[in-house]
Amino acid sequence: MVKKAGIIQARYGSTRFPHKVLERVDGKPLLQLQWERLQRAKTLDTIILATTGSPIDDPIFEIAEKLKMPVFRGSERDVLDRYYRAAKHFGIDVVARITSDCPLLDPAVVDQVMDVYLRDPSRFDFVANNTPPSATFPDGMDVEVFSMSLLERAWREAVKPSEREHVTFFFWKQPERFKLHRVDAPEDWSHYRLTVDYPEDLEVIRRLVDHFHTTNKFGSLPEIIAYLRDPAARLPKSTHVFGEGWQPSLQQDALADTVQTVKAPALKLQKTEAAWKRALTLIPTGAQTFSKTPNQFVAGVAPKMVARGRGSRVWDLDGNEYLDYTLSLGPTLLGHSHPEVNRAAARCADETFNCPPLPHVLESDLAETLRRLIPSAEMVKYGKNGSDVTTAAVRVARAYTGRDHVAFCGYHGWHDWHIGATSRKKGVPEAVQRLTHRFQYNKIETLKKILSDHPGQVAAVILEPVGHTPPENQFLEKVKHLTQEHGAVLIFDEIITGFRIDLGGAQTFFGVTPDLSTFGKAMANGYPISVLCGRKDLMEQLEEVFFSFTFGGELPTIAAALKTIEILERDKVLPYIAQQGTRLRDGFNQAAKGLSIPFARCVGMDFWPEIMFDAAGGFSSLELLTLFQQEIVRRGILTRAPLFVSAAHSPCDITVTLRIFRDALAVVKLAVQNGSVKAWTEGDLIHPVIRNESSPDPAPNVIQQLHPS
Ligand SMILES: Cc1ncc(COP(=O)(O)O)c(C=O)c1O
Repeated sequence: MVKKAGIIQARYGSTRFPHKVLERVDGKPLLQLQWERLQRAKTLDTIILATTGSPIDDPIFEIAEKLKMPVFRGSERDVLDRYYRAAKHFGIDVVARITSDCPLLDPAVVDQVMDVYLRDPSRFDFVANNTPPSATFPDGMDVEVFSMSLLERAWREAVKPSEREHVTFFFWKQPERFKLHRVDAPEDWSHYRLTVDYPEDLEVIRRLVDHFHTTNKFGSLPEIIAYLRDPAARLPKSTHVFGEGWQPSLQQDALADTVQTVKAPALKLQKTEAAWKRALTLIPTGAQTFSKTPNQFVAGVAPKMVARGRGSRVWDLDGNEYLDYTLSLGPTLLGHSHPEVNRAAARCADETFNCPPLPHVLESDLAETLRRLIPSAEMVKYGKNGSDVTTAAVRVARAYTGRDHVAFCGYHGWHDWHIGATSRKKGVPEAVQRLTHRFQYNKIETLKKILSDHPGQVAAVILEPVGHTPPENQFLEKVKHLTQEHGAVLIFDEIITGFRIDLGGAQTFFGVTPDLSTFGKAMANGYPISVLCGRKDLMEQLEEVFFSFTFGGELPTIAAALKTIEILERDKVLPYIAQQGTRLRDGFNQAAKGLSIPFARCVGMDFWPEIMFDAAGGFSSLELLTLFQQEIVRRGILTRAPLFVSAAHSPCDITVTLRIFRDALAVVKLAVQNGSVKAWTEGDLIHPVIRNESSPDPAPNVIQQLHPS
């Protein structure tokens, strides 16, 4: 059955008349008045509210909740995205677009427009009663009807600011592409104004509602017109004209076609800052993870805390919205707070277990799935963090070989064996530090040297199979060969690559199977789980080797992992992410080329692009990256140098991001030319979490050092 919905878009932050939907008429908010009237529409199966996820819209959300009205909360900046996702979320086939500035919308008018569309949906793409020029219905009786598939097309293709803000511009501005039809009123009533855009409009609505209240009428459109025509009513006349509200976004369209080299205005962050001050008094560094601390995001400019996230977006405590490319250090591959994954975890906690006293079959279900997907996974065991399983892998290798030394390449977590070999080694005994040796990616001779310097002593070679540079000259095959030759265990640390480059990890992508491998981050879309898997004879070491903790087998997370993997397979998420990653990387490089900026580039494989700046004009790479990040975060992009794309990032999100990148690059270029990079940077320099001690200027390795969590 075709599901037809009236979707009301409403938000608190209207520029001309903030909080208008909360204004009260006849003792109730305008939104409620509108909703109650629309209950009489015969053609609508449901009436949905599409509002923003910003805390400022909580009061609107609360009204809807009280009315038991289905609500979707989405983007504040990208109204088309919010609208589309609302319709998709509730499985709507035909949409009647209704705006909250039309509180007296007559349900019979909704039915009239709907009926024209429904009579033969193939005849028209878009039926409305308000399309200019010469619409005849009063301003404030606006209804626009279209199919979900048309809405999806606009969502995918529309790029102009006006098209993203005024959901239906994309259709009616293109009569040559779409079959448009306008429904007209019996007479020209277009000079009557029933919309609420300014405080003075409210007076007319109040008078009309009072009148119908006292005369016991519903207030249909003919009844409204009759009263408006009545000279005795003496209703105030408005000086505002139709379409005024479109002007700002049309001006933005014009601007968007030119490069903006203007520094973006500062964000308002009062509440976020206040909350941060409190956190600092309670929590060392204020955060649980080094990579989430303010020195990773231009302290003084960027938000230091977030309030909520949904899909590709997050909001701070002041309601500022950001497109997020951190994905919380990578896990939320399907987007923040994915409803299906959340439901799977909640259902497991409610109906099965949250923390069972004995092993549960779901553990084996997940193990079977992993064995099917990951070539090295003959047996599996779960951890909570990536560090748990890399450490367990090293311990298994030590137990199996009876050796102590480890060669590593990449970042592998916070435990002594690894972090003791980095600049953050404080607290790690020297004896432990001496057992771990770093080799360099794609430089096989650096590994050879470690193996020959410590003959018969290296238990494990552990590496991230790929970072921002793909393997060259059969690097992975050569590493495998060397480990076999020297009797060391080969461990692929797939904490980042796992479930991102391929469902079977980089080992599937590159066709090299290690002895052991570790997975984590993206496998449960943000729920904490990691996996150690590998050859049976090695994994059986865990019968003696101690890898055991209270929350092993905690069940909602295992349910979340099963659901996440199901969705990744079902929705073919990874090819999509690679496609959008390619767009980001290539689009960034095109922008840099177009602006003749040789010192900025985006590198990396499709699944994980990374932004890099070389030192230029006497400024270090970190100084340039800091100014760039300042400019993008103020324009609504939250990221560090690596860019993680999720399934929730729409093609339009990427388009918007690239436009912002281009504008920010233009600012950086101008600042380098003027010598004003430091003067224009209003926050603190970004800091690597782990310093590269071999280089005084972290330029060549900025990226690598920004990875660790
Ligand atoms: C490749 C790699 N291995 C291991 C880890 C450690 O994982 P966790 O922070 O979950 O302990 C990380 C974290 O960023 C990582 O990127």
